[in-house]
Amino acid sequence: MNIRNLQRRALHRRTLLGGAGLLGITAALAACGGSSGGGSDAGGASGKAMRLALNQTEEHPSFVALDNFGKSLDEATGGSWSIEVYPNETLGAQQETLQMVSNGSVEMSIVSGTQLENLNKDFLVLNMPGAFDDIDKQISVLQDPSIVGELFASLEESQNITVVGGFTQGERSVYSTKGPVSTPADLAGQKLRVQESDLHLAMAKALGATGTPLAYGEVYTGLNSGVIDAAENNEISYVTQAHYEVAKYFSFTRHLVGTDYLIINTDTLNSMDEAQRASFDEGWAAAVEEHTGLWQEQTAQGIEDAKAEGAEFNEVDVESFKEALASLPEEFLTEDSQTTLWDAVRGAQG
Ligand code: GCU
Repeated sequence: MNIRNLQRRALHRRTLLGGAGLLGITAALAACGGSSGGGSDAGGASGKAMRLALNQTEEHPSFVALDNFGKSLDEATGGSWSIEVYPNETLGAQQETLQMVSNGSVEMSIVSGTQLENLNKDFLVLNMPGAFDDIDKQISVLQDPSIVGELFASLEESQNITVVGGFTQGERSVYSTKGPVSTPADLAGQKLRVQESDLHLAMAKALGATGTPLAYGEVYTGLNSGVIDAAENNEISYVTQAHYEVAKYFSFTRHLVGTDYLIINTDTLNSMDEAQRASFDEGWAAAVEEHTGLWQEQTAQGIEDAKAEGAEFNEVDVESFKEALASLPEEFLTEDSQTTLWDAVRGAQG
């Protein structure tokens, strides 16, 4: 991973976003059309060129793994089904692409768990600090249908969305423009960007900060202009989004292991025949494996690259963060379905 390239891409991304807007998105969607091979006829699966919306750069493990997923699906189905990954929020921010998958104007998207929590409160369980001990345990929970099967199918009737599975977002930590953070007290008075989630807003408050929900693509400008003082994310986002340029102090709070989901329009998924569906599932399983491997490599490399550009990393008093966040499960997991899922998720991790 070359930092100069990343900077150029980040700049390019910001320019693109500046000029895009909804009109741009609509035009892009119209221009790429939808189906190949004549679309899906009733009673017969003929295939489709699917679009997948992503908010990451082309260097990010999610782009790399999904792009390879597309190629393997294309090959396995003799060109009937393919996936084109649109990176850098070019099809819209996650809140918008979630709607697009629901109405079928885009077939697939990666969305953060925080987006799904707004459609079904049970997803909140997996967005909770302390839900996962580490990435390996997270992936095994996300691949266990006895734990997540019902949850992943829960949006099919109401939203026409199927959750295919999860990628790790790694451990999320805090970074700030103001200085290194060691305990939550250091965040007092800071405006901390959070994802669009009531839980994560409460998380910011519990850490003594003022939570400011923003879309991912707005974080760089937010930090740069002082609209926010701090953000929380993984090391790979810190580097690929060039956030280190504007928030130099990265503190390893590791306050939660986040989850991204691959979502697909349910009607599209159901129009695959059995063999195509099997190829789709195999390709996805391989993508998760590749993604998880790349995650470790790029995290280590990203830290080195950011340090070389002047970013400063520091360890924190991890216990003080755990303590500050300890009351969130009781506050937010109030329904039986949520506590049952929480027990299953925690129970599976020994
Ligand atoms: C991570 C995650 C994204 C999410 C982003 C955010 O990068 O992979 O899906 O959108 O965090 O903080 O918004």
